[in-house]
Amino acid sequence: MVLIKNSRSRETEAIGSNALPKRTQVGIVGAGPAGLLLSHLLHRAGIGSVIFESRSRREVESTLRAGVLEQGTVDLLNETGVGERMRQEGCVHHGIELRFDGQRHRVPLSDLTGGRAITLYAQHEVIRDLVKARLDAGGTIAFDVSNVSIRDFDSTKPCIRFDRGGTTRELACDFIAGCDGFHGTCRPSVPAQSRTEYVRHYPFAWFGILAKAPPFAPELIYAHHARGFSLVSTRSPEIQRLYFQCDPNDAVENWTDERIWNELQARLTTDDGWEMAPGSIFQKAIIAMRSFVLEPMQFGALFLAGDAAHIVPPTGAKGLNLAVADVHVLATAFAEYYASGRKGLLDQYSALSLERVWRAEHFSWWMTSMLHRFDDDPFQNQLQIAQLKYVATSRAGATTLAENYVGLPLATPVSDRTPIWRGPCAGATPHRLHSSDASLNRSAT
Ligand code: FAD
Ligand code: DHB
Repeated sequence: MVLIKNSRSRETEAIGSNALPKRTQVGIVGAGPAGLLLSHLLHRAGIGSVIFESRSRREVESTLRAGVLEQGTVDLLNETGVGERMRQEGCVHHGIELRFDGQRHRVPLSDLTGGRAITLYAQHEVIRDLVKARLDAGGTIAFDVSNVSIRDFDSTKPCIRFDRGGTTRELACDFIAGCDGFHGTCRPSVPAQSRTEYVRHYPFAWFGILAKAPPFAPELIYAHHARGFSLVSTRSPEIQRLYFQCDPNDAVENWTDERIWNELQARLTTDDGWEMAPGSIFQKAIIAMRSFVLEPMQFGALFLAGDAAHIVPPTGAKGLNLAVADVHVLATAFAEYYASGRKGLLDQYSALSLERVWRAEHFSWWMTSMLHRFDDDPFQNQLQIAQLKYVATSRAGATTLAENYVGLPLATPVSDRTPIWRGPCAGATPHRLHSSDASLNRSAT
């Protein structure tokens, strides 16, 4: 067990030589983006937290996953002092390419959204920045703990039980944040009759590779093709990230490097003869696709955030960004509670977060449905082409994609005195009703 604790901490009361406090204000399960950012935001609001993580620091900091950060995520990381390396090493993109029928079509994200953009910066780099920030600030992250369980979260005395150094211990807290991902322990701890789960499985998966190569394109390419979907992304001037649709029962061993490059070239081919020079592949993995939403996201003193509460298929690049949006709301609500004793914002956490979650679920399902091959369904294929042509040629169609892709604004409380949120759907690219619409509205009320 490796416990990392900075002895200068003023947030937590150390007990003897054990260096873990007896109690904390918010006990957090999971040191992914949700748990780490929550702890960071709470610290900035003067609220103590302890994070429990079942994996080692090395594993947590090296798991390769997301790459696309929405504008709101980037702004939040910058505003809270953890964006320095992202600004130096991340790459800002102002558009993406849709490729279908052998043609390329640019969606100018920034032009369509008042200057908003995405940043390519790997999830594990965000994690490294957050771990460092927490430890530098004296935060407590207990890596490598086992048998974590959450208890009494339906009472006023919740606690987290865990095994450490061969003994079982408990940490009392005011609240518990379940940030332990889709396979964690927090969600299943809620009695089945108290939760509703919405699930959709897709009949395909993604084959993801990392390759040493110069960038294949200046912007991300989302390609629809009769052989299946493919996606060209990037990590740095030297490392490229690519994905292609595959059978969920396929195996990594079935794909030699040569077969992968041939498949990608076939799916990405254009009428003007676009070619990709194969790079050196150093990582291959098959990634399942599903949609999942848990309702509600709060049970007594337990608040679920990130993948613990919802999953999207990766086509819209929303998962990490949703985790960030959840904990932004949660940290703001905790700050209000500890400053004033009012629970108004906390009580709205679930409903407000679910508003954004369902918007992102729809967008991710829509992107997935528009771009992937559905076997033996020529009708679906024609619908996809019709939709892609609309997005490629209509400003309204392209704006729908762009404003969802760069991300809706993060929610903010309406005023300091009113515990009401201004939610993500309050106006991504604000518009006014035409006067005739307004009069229709008036006569209807
Ligand atoms: P996680 O990252 O899963 O973190 C949960 C943590 O909890 C883990 O460290 C885990 O070890 C720990 N844990 C689990 N169980 C326990 C336990 N019992 N006790 C203690 N600790 C526990 N999202 C985007 O926004 N943009 C993208 O471009 C994007 N691309 C993706 C590409 C791929 C291939 C994949 C797989 C995902 C992608 N995502 C993307 C999704 C994104 O990676 C996830 O949504 C994100 O990791 C969710 O963060 P989280 O903190 O909620 O959960
Ligand atoms: C990446 C992942 C995604 O899910 C996506 O839609 C775009 C890019 C990436 O890992 O770079």
